[in-house]
Amino acid sequence: MELTTVFQNYAKSFLCGRADFDGNIELKRTHSFRVMSLAAKIARAEKADENDFRLAVTAGLLHDYGRFEQYRQFETFADARSIDHGELGARLLKEHNVLHDFSSRDAEWIITAVRCHNMRELPAELSGKALWLTQIVRDADKIDIIELVLSYYASNLDNPQVTLGLSPEKRLSPAIVSAAIQGKAPDYRDLRTFYDFAVTKLSWFAGLYFDWSRREFLRRAYPERIIGFIAGIPGAEEITAAFAGMVKNAGIEYELNL
Ligand SMILES: [Fe+2]
Repeated sequence: MELTTVFQNYAKSFLCGRADFDGNIELKRTHSFRVMSLAAKIARAEKADENDFRLAVTAGLLHDYGRFEQYRQFETFADARSIDHGELGARLLKEHNVLHDFSSRDAEWIITAVRCHNMRELPAELSGKALWLTQIVRDADKIDIIELVLSYYASNLDNPQVTLGLSPEKRLSPAIVSAAIQGKAPDYRDLRTFYDFAVTKLSWFAGLYFDWSRREFLRRAYPERIIGFIAGIPGAEEITAAFAGMVKNAGIEYELNL
């Protein structure tokens, strides 16, 4: 059976008939397929050979394999309040022998990428193909998550799995503004409002690994959409100026279209 079908069946086996529960399972299932296709595009842009391309696509598809079991057991996607879904996914992929068609070396690389895709800092010993796959998955994941967050912000703000219980109050927290201006990764414990959360998505630009990903971030007008969302809030102008500087430093010719 095709791996996409195996995955599809696995994800669907978690559906239980409760609309809110099933909605969140579907959210992760469709996200996985989009990350797969983004991973494919990055691998193509990186001129990967046929085998590496297959590894990248597979790691993209399976990166959130642990999400389904996590949600079934805990009904949350917050790792801090449940379980590390990267670890869980890596363990389940082995237990279910999902990668039996791959050489043990290739399977190990994919499993490592799944285990590491959600780490705050990558382990220093991660190298070679495992590192490359992890980086592809992380970039692809981020690009899709931002689209998801922005589309939720544009439409419904009533799914606590997406809004993380943050306040709808229209302000930016000082710690978030200062991290954004310094181009630093924000501390998630400083998040208070939806707007803080949107700003953290802007800061993801600096952490992207591949040129294709940075260009895609801009092509999708993420900066303009995020900045449009926070426009008028004290701190927004400084964040915008700092971001423009960051794009310039990345060596990309780009004019923010505000
Ligand atoms: Fe994930």
